[in-house]
Amino acid sequence: MGSHQILVFFLFLFVAQGFGQKQQQEDPCQTKARVVSDIEYCDRYWECVNGNPELFDCPNGLVFAGKHRGVTEGCDYPWRANYCDGKRQANPPIRAEHCDWLYGIFGHETSCTRYWTCWNGTATEQLCIGGLLYNERARSCDWPENVDGCQKHPLCNDDPNGNVPLGKSCNRYWQCQGGYPRLQRCPAMLVFDRRSLRCVVPPTEDCDVPTTIAPDRELIEGGNEQDPEEENLPPNVPQLPPGAVALRPRPRN
Ligand SMILES: *[C@@H]1O[C@H](CO)[C@@H](O)[C@H](O)[C@H]1NC(C)=O
Repeated sequence: MGSHQILVFFLFLFVAQGFGQKQQQEDPCQTKARVVSDIEYCDRYWECVNGNPELFDCPNGLVFAGKHRGVTEGCDYPWRANYCDGKRQANPPIRAEHCDWLYGIFGHETSCTRYWTCWNGTATEQLCIGGLLYNERARSCDWPENVDGCQKHPLCNDDPNGNVPLGKSCNRYWQCQGGYPRLQRCPAMLVFDRRSLRCVVPPTEDCDVPTTIAPDRELIEGGNEQDPEEENLPPNVPQLPPGAVALRPRPRN
């Protein structure tokens, strides 16, 4: 461009902005990162390739977060920040089995304790443990009272105010309070009796003396064993994909 053209260009920019029109798209080749977000669409970005700006789409379901940010290729789950404020998404969802978009975290069709993580259209089933339910709004496991439409945990189906054994534990058990399970521990020197569903003086059929099993292990086994829905699940909690957030159970008393 000659100096005259440059002047005209800047004059245009000035006038366009002065009239409250759209801001000018930033040129990635003029930036240090060589990547900039698109000014109109949050799921697109410009990258400087061989000295020229090129437009790219984020993987389906993700939006641009910034170079080296997000879960892959500088793109992130749209709900993790206000990436799309004042912008639109250019691409419609591409659906796959259990996935509303190719990438994302989605609720389970039939269970309140499970959810799906989708990565390039491949769904992996995830499980909430420790009496937690999947909260679709928070995209994570949460306390039942925070989860709309899934208020009661299946652990408490038999008796919304009863006690439920926790796996093979001798001193911990679930106490259902109006359908919400809460992890409890028997007072010192007592053990949980699976028959009377109360803390009793040992020995019982299964417990001679109060024992301590690693709490996490206990929780996981207990969760699977007590929940009729959770049969045949692997003994370990599935790994979350990068960026997925799982709320930890509250500290136990
Ligand atoms: C996503 O899956 C498609 C086929 O299902 C494959 O062609 C593509 O390479 C995959 N992309 C990534 C980033 O893994």
